[in-house]
Amino acid sequence: QTIYLSEYQVPAYLVDQIDLRFELFEDGARVHSTLTMRRNPESGAPGQRLELDGDSLILESVALDGQTLIPDAYEEADGKLVIADVPGQFELSVVTWIEPQNNTRLEGLYKSSGMFCTQCEAEGFRCITYYPDRPDVMARFRTRIEADRQSYPVLLSNGNPVEQGELENGRHFVTWEDPFPKPAYLFALVAGDLTEKRDSFTTCSGREIDLRMYVEPRNAEKCDFAMDALKRSMRWDEEVYGREYDLDIFMIVAVDDFNMGAMENKGLNIFNSSCVLASQDTATDATFQRIEAIVAHEYFHNWSGNRVTCRDWFQLSLKEGFTVFRDAQFSADVGSPTVKRIEDATLLRTAQFAEDAGPMAHPVRPASYMEIANFYTLTIYEKGEEVVRMIHNLLGPELFRKGSDLYFERHDGQAVTTDDFVKAMEDASGRDLSQFRLWYEQAGTPVLTVEDEHDAEQGIYRLIIRQTVPDTPGQTNKKPQHIPFAVGLLDEHGQVLPLALTADEHNAPTERVLEITGAEQVFEFHGIEEPPVPSLLRDFSAPVRVRYPYTREQLLFLMSHDTDGFNRWDAGQKLAIDVIESLVGEDDGKEIDPRLVGAYRTLLNDTSLDQALVAKMLQLPSENYLVELADEADVPSIHHARERVLQHLAVSLREELLACYQRHQQAGDYQLTPEAIAGRSLRNTALGWLLHIGDVEALALARSQFEQADNMTDRLGALRALVNSGFDKERTEALDAFYERFQNDPQVVEMWFSVQAASFKMGQLPHIRHLLEHDAFDWKNPNKVRSVVGAFAGQNLPAFHNPDGSGYGFLADVVRRLDDSNPQIAARLVTPLTRWKKFAPAYGRQMRTALESIRDKKGLSKDVYEVVYKSLAD
Ligand code: ARG
Ligand code: ZN
Repeated sequence: QTIYLSEYQVPAYLVDQIDLRFELFEDGARVHSTLTMRRNPESGAPGQRLELDGDSLILESVALDGQTLIPDAYEEADGKLVIADVPGQFELSVVTWIEPQNNTRLEGLYKSSGMFCTQCEAEGFRCITYYPDRPDVMARFRTRIEADRQSYPVLLSNGNPVEQGELENGRHFVTWEDPFPKPAYLFALVAGDLTEKRDSFTTCSGREIDLRMYVEPRNAEKCDFAMDALKRSMRWDEEVYGREYDLDIFMIVAVDDFNMGAMENKGLNIFNSSCVLASQDTATDATFQRIEAIVAHEYFHNWSGNRVTCRDWFQLSLKEGFTVFRDAQFSADVGSPTVKRIEDATLLRTAQFAEDAGPMAHPVRPASYMEIANFYTLTIYEKGEEVVRMIHNLLGPELFRKGSDLYFERHDGQAVTTDDFVKAMEDASGRDLSQFRLWYEQAGTPVLTVEDEHDAEQGIYRLIIRQTVPDTPGQTNKKPQHIPFAVGLLDEHGQVLPLALTADEHNAPTERVLEITGAEQVFEFHGIEEPPVPSLLRDFSAPVRVRYPYTREQLLFLMSHDTDGFNRWDAGQKLAIDVIESLVGEDDGKEIDPRLVGAYRTLLNDTSLDQALVAKMLQLPSENYLVELADEADVPSIHHARERVLQHLAVSLREELLACYQRHQQAGDYQLTPEAIAGRSLRNTALGWLLHIGDVEALALARSQFEQADNMTDRLGALRALVNSGFDKERTEALDAFYERFQNDPQVVEMWFSVQAASFKMGQLPHIRHLLEHDAFDWKNPNKVRSVVGAFAGQNLPAFHNPDGSGYGFLADVVRRLDDSNPQIAARLVTPLTRWKKFAPAYGRQMRTALESIRDKKGLSKDVYEVVYKSLAD
């Protein structure tokens, strides 16, 4: 059953106020809900029929204006409660019984390590009570929570606490009131025995905000970093977007069982423990950075998402694309902007481009869906971010800010569309973004094919640019899009040339954002005497593929001269990709281009370079990215070719790698500055490469680093290097010691699982099955499932794509098993199988067979059905 954007209708009834009373018990919860409702004056729907959404509810009673309804007066069917006849204005009271302790889907109200918590986005509120569960119904919430005081001393909901007290039988209650009308997906409740960490923040207008984190007592020491990140986010949003916090209290709760990263519930953000808890001993640099970004992301949602929300779920990118853009700007501001851009572009090009080219391809604003939970995708989030970034690039920072101010002012308190967002940007800037809107409507990654010519006589250099947007399921013959294409030209000395568009333009800029709008366009640059080297799509100015026939000489030149840091890195990637691709399927006698070693040697030796950039440049393109670039990928051959290059580099550069390792020894205390992070990244890369070739000197370094590290980045770096080495004995010792030391810390145990599952050397199927039997593994905990099964199928490509098909069969088994307990997670795990078209036919066929075995499961969830059905139809 498919839902279409074109069928959107305004709600027939509105809710002005909802009063909730939760009675929480060990064997279930009773939810009393009283809705103050009225007919929507804007609705043209005929009749007096009221429809409310519900899922997995036991209905105990319904009362209209205080009169209990007899069962004949309403109907409960197909996830709806229908009351045939309601007046224009009324009060509806509904009592439901639910069983949070048996809720393994982790939607609605559920229990996680003994505490009650909620996840209502997108459609979880209907698992709590009957309600018009759609984001354009916004109500004021008043929530009373009653529970046993001993087991649940902390009772939280949105807004401000207004009343609390004792009840009989050792129970107590707290009542919360949220003054801001909100959609039900932003509702949250938490009840548990939690430690409270307090801090405060003074806003730009001088209001004092009470900041609180609630965690299990064992995690009390892992809150400082997130609390600090929260305060920095609050300040940043005031300074960069003029957004002040609105309630008097802001709370963060950490829960172990959570389907996604975190949730921006009004005033009560709930986080997956792994996305908020951190300490130097237990979190890597990457984890710290992820936590900082997610804390910022959820906080920024208070404006981009909560104060201005989505009209319907087709508009999901309205809040997600904009908020990811905001958190990316924040991360760039507090860290290394080039590194942040490289990381984001890598994710986009590796995973979102693959999604855009696969069976689940959809526009940033989808036109239809079966299950909205399947649309929390890289396209909605990451491509949506790029779309907002392109508006920023087209308008410039000042006009973009004007547009953002207008958007928040015009739509505060409303549920709106992506079109309203673009309109605000247009109105504030005076720019026409009508063609730009195609970015929201057309799926698929545009391809720019670039040719160039140099006219020495006239001193003119031309770029000829052709644009195509590929067909995607259900969408063909697409229109050209509006693409900001940033370019620079380098002369033979590596100087950027002025880009004069006419013969008499003086003081021309050395970088221009060309606006591509047609299927074919020619741009002329004057006063260019010698053929230049073009630097294209600088800073990854648009989420597109660029085809230009760079020679290896040109790439080497850009690698050392481009003034755009992103493109400098990208030239190195392109060179490495070209070298690896030329070896795929060839026998091992084929020579590896010596210029690649030369380029890496320069990188390792030149200590004047930005070490954060060097750390990124030393990473070879991932197998996932190489697969994405291939047609009919043959994973073992790709793996083998990449492995050859890695070994060759490591053998040739042994001395330089050892020197790099020594040079970046930690001096003094652990620090989280971009420089220190880059240093750790470099030395752990060097260590990994050296252990890869079985270097015994490096083995000694790894062992002492593993034992003596004062932080998790270095300890895990050494462990990973050992796991991926051929030193079996040392690897086993290290894994055992690591587990022994951290077995009581779920976040670290998850790393321990994934380091093994993602390793080709260790993570073959028999070992994966062994990990699933481990005491610390738990099928009910999404993080554990991801850390073993997700890491195996998503990162350990040569093991997953074992030619005998065993990896596919295994994943299908896991998906069928999880489909009953947690359909959202099951549907996400299927993803690697859906890409069957990407692989050589012998693989693709077996992947399809695995998909079919999932399709044929009895009682398949809507979530998994949609993904599998669309994949098989492709
Ligand atoms: N809105 C959240 C965020 O992006 C994610 C939604 C969580 N959804 C879920 N089904 N768990 O921050
Ligand atoms: Zn979000």
